[in-house]
Amino acid sequence: MKRLLTCLLLSASFTAVHAEERSPVNLNQDQHGWVLEYMRHMLETIADMQGLVAAGKTSEVAARVQVLNEYAGATKPKGIGQQFPQGFRAMSQQMNRYWQQLETPSDDAAQVLQTSQQMLNTCNACHRVYYLTPPAE
Ligand code: HEC
Repeated sequence: MKRLLTCLLLSASFTAVHAEERSPVNLNQDQHGWVLEYMRHMLETIADMQGLVAAGKTSEVAARVQVLNEYAGATKPKGIGQQFPQGFRAMSQQMNRYWQQLETPSDDAAQVLQTSQQMLNTCNACHRVYYLTPPAE
């Protein structure tokens, strides 16, 4: 119990001193909800892609990515791009180019893994630079 308390206190004080250094992105509730939902879809797609490549089904990766891209096309709130800061938009465009490459059917497992690794660097770069502010009610 004592250890648990110390732990809680330590994490509370860490939170207090950990100043936010990333840049804020302000979205309305719809846009905010959509961005996070899309992020979860992307991570799930990457997990499925890895499973396909590991199972020797690299040629099925493109169809899986197509499902993601269709989801994005069908659900993306109109005008959301204009809400994005310039750097955020640039990184998301760079990421989209990788998704487009992965949507092109390929049997080349090493190539698919390399493209997704480069794409993950873009995911990580953006997460290091931006955060979403809580949406206004
Ligand atoms: C253009 C910027 C950008 C790119 C590119 C990006 N993300 Fe994100 N992502 C964000 C932001 C901003 C958040 C919210 C983080 C925060 O507010 O602290 C987020 C959150 C997430 C979350 C958490 C979702 C939740 O339920 O809270 C996941 C998972 C995620 N991203 C996955 C990815 C993956 C996988 C990629 C690449 C394929 C990616 N992201 C690319 C900006 C980006």
